[in-house]
Amino acid sequence: MKIFLDTANLESIKKFNDMGLLDGITTNPSLLSKEGGNPKNAMEEITKIIKGDVSLEVVSTEYSGMIKEGKRLREYGDNVVVKVPMTADGLKACKSLSSEGIPVNVTLIFSPNQALLAAKSGAKYVSPFIGRLDDIGQNGMHLIKEIKEIFSNYNFGTEILVASIRHPIHVVDAAKIGADVVTLPPIVLDKMLQHPLTKIGLDNFLADWEKLKQKNPDATI
Ligand code: E4P
Repeated sequence: MKIFLDTANLESIKKFNDMGLLDGITTNPSLLSKEGGNPKNAMEEITKIIKGDVSLEVVSTEYSGMIKEGKRLREYGDNVVVKVPMTADGLKACKSLSSEGIPVNVTLIFSPNQALLAAKSGAKYVSPFIGRLDDIGQNGMHLIKEIKEIFSNYNFGTEILVASIRHPIHVVDAAKIGADVVTLPPIVLDKMLQHPLTKIGLDNFLADWEKLKQKNPDATI
């Protein structure tokens, strides 16, 4: 399963990229807005730091605007995936951009039918938002299972990019279903690194090493 980071924060991107964990990045207008500053600089930097796919989202809502913006976004790098919303114009833009060899991520997917249509339009990725479904009392992970079953039935090449992830259990469940990608807020990736027994174990090892050093001050590794 590929891991993308769902952020426009350069510090977090560098931190996890240096650990070799990142296969790509997803951004959206809200994430860029949260960082402040000039979004162009952020998008340029991110596409340079990350070798894998970087999803950058259009803000136009009609077809021709999406195409113009999509092509402009692609100028940031060959690794740019154009993110379009799951609307009629978004699917039309998905079809045109994909036919020209520009990969597209169809975002704001909340039903299996939306995922099916996005795949038919040639999307490289569909982004079902599971946390936002959980928030309104629906089962977000059930949607991932349904999309996985549909895509497997017809051998669609479109990848399932599980978005709006809220906690590490979402990641385990998505991996068990066989989702292609999870996109994680930095806080979730941080939590995945940790386990209380790892910390206790390390503290004990270091305390025992100090005891050994007291008996044998010349001890080294
Ligand atoms: C994915 O591409 C979206 O940017 C993101 O996962 C949305 O998550 P949210 O529901 O936490 O805003």
